[in-house]
Amino acid sequence: MRKQIVAGNWKMNNDLAQTEALITELKKWTKTSDASIMVAPTFTNLWQAYQSLKDTHIEVIAQNMHFAKNGAYTGEISATMLKSVGVETVILGHSERREYFNETDELLAKKVDAALENEMTVIFCFGEVLADRKSNNHEKVVESQIKNALFHLKAWDFKRIILAYEPVWAIGTGETASPEQAQDMHAFVRKTLADKYGYEIANSVSILYGGSVKPNNAQEIFSKPDVDGGLIGGAALNAEDFFAIVNAF
Ligand code: PGA
Repeated sequence: MRKQIVAGNWKMNNDLAQTEALITELKKWTKTSDASIMVAPTFTNLWQAYQSLKDTHIEVIAQNMHFAKNGAYTGEISATMLKSVGVETVILGHSERREYFNETDELLAKKVDAALENEMTVIFCFGEVLADRKSNNHEKVVESQIKNALFHLKAWDFKRIILAYEPVWAIGTGETASPEQAQDMHAFVRKTLADKYGYEIANSVSILYGGSVKPNNAQEIFSKPDVDGGLIGGAALNAEDFFAIVNAF
């Protein structure tokens, strides 16, 4: 059985006091599903969040990291730094990183390697923009994102890879992919993985959907056989909504 995961990406929201307040709210909710829960505060709040949540069922994860071990990379954060504050999982390749910070597949391949070398787990994001979907190129785009950033890995590396399909046109727009669109892409991605690594590996990798997941649509999306959970942006900033999504499984 694949791991079911709901991860909240808080993006560049919440200062320290707001982060503590949201964590206090999150701790009031009990989960009634088997899904693993993760939240990704901004870098400055990771340590505090880790301290507050380390004895709970909520894992604190990071939104990004640099590929180098250390050195002259002003403003950047390394895998060992993340690990030193209790972080074991990192989101890489979010479309906002690709779009606003020019992160390429080649750069992401290096980041993935650095995370795996440090025995971290990666939530690797990919997804097409609206023009790709309209021109029916969405599968081609996603296939190349995955191949370029991940297909140099060994089969066993996929124990530490979680995939997240995030159609860019659905992020923060209120427009979700239909459950069928999500399922079709997830099945396509699993087949792409299987062609390279075999079905045993492909069937073991969790594939999350992200893009305007809300309490009112989570259940239908999560009911699809190849959707193993969600990467949640906006709705993760509200504890009640976030737990409604967690409990949608
Ligand atoms: P959204 O963001 O839920 O606000 O659309 C999803 C994401 O960017 O991971």
